[in-house]
Amino acid sequence: MNKGKKTQRVDKILGHLGIGSRADLKKMVKQGRVSLNGQVLKDSGAQADPYTDQIEVDGELVLYREFIYIMLHKPAGVISATEDTRDRTVIDLLPEHYKVFHPFPVGRLDKDTEGLLLITNDGQLAHDLLSPRKHVPKTYYADVRGLVGEEEAARFEQGVELDDGYVTLPAKLVVTGQAQDEEGPVSRILLTISEGKFHQVKRMFEAVGSKVLYLKRMSMGSLTLDETLPKGAFRELTEDELNSLR
Ligand code: URA
Repeated sequence: MNKGKKTQRVDKILGHLGIGSRADLKKMVKQGRVSLNGQVLKDSGAQADPYTDQIEVDGELVLYREFIYIMLHKPAGVISATEDTRDRTVIDLLPEHYKVFHPFPVGRLDKDTEGLLLITNDGQLAHDLLSPRKHVPKTYYADVRGLVGEEEAARFEQGVELDDGYVTLPAKLVVTGQAQDEEGPVSRILLTISEGKFHQVKRMFEAVGSKVLYLKRMSMGSLTLDETLPKGAFRELTEDELNSLR
C-alpha cells in the first residue's frame, strides 16, 4: 500500500471511492458536509493525503484505499468478464461501492465452471498471478466420466497432447472418490495445473478419453476458496491472504 506523503484533491479522493462526482462533491462541501482533520472544508479542491489525513463525510470517517481484492465463489451461469451484452458477468454480482473501483476478474473460468475467482483492480497483482512464466498452481475439483486412476495420473504427470497439439506441463491428478449416475461411473478428482490454457482441464480429460461433467476451482496459488461462501457470494481477502499472494 502506498503510505508515502502524497496529496491529492479531496474531491478526487472521494470521487475514487465513489462518494460522488466532482460536481456532487462541490455541492457537499458547500453544504458543510465534508471535513478535513476536524475542520469543515471550504474548498473541494483542497489537498489532502488520503492515507494520513482524516476526511469525514456527514461525520463519518472515510477509509481510503486504491485497490480492492475480492474472493468470489463463482456460480455457474455467469461469465468471467467485466461487461457483456447478453450474459450476466461476475462484476454484475458486486454492489456499486465495489464497482466504482473498476474491478476485473483475474483470469477466466468458463460459464459453467464454479469456484474461486479473484476480482481486483490491481493490475500488477493480476499480471503476476497470470504470467505464464510464474506457473502459479491452480487446483480444480471435477466430476469426470468413467473410472480414472493411476494411468491417467501418470499421463497427466508426463503431459498430454491437447486437440491443438499443445503438450501440457506436468499436472497432478488425485482421485478422491467414485460414484455412479444414470450413464455409468463417475470419478471425483482433484487436478492441479500450473498453466492456464483455454478450457484446459476439460481438454486434458478429453485427451485421455474422459469428459468433465462438473468443474470447480478450489485454489489459485496460496488462495483457497472459502467454503463458507455460498455460490454467488463474495468477501474481501484478509490481510494474510493478500500478503501470501504477493
Ligand atoms: N479449465 C477448464 O476447462 N475450464 C475452466 O473454467 C477452468 C479450467
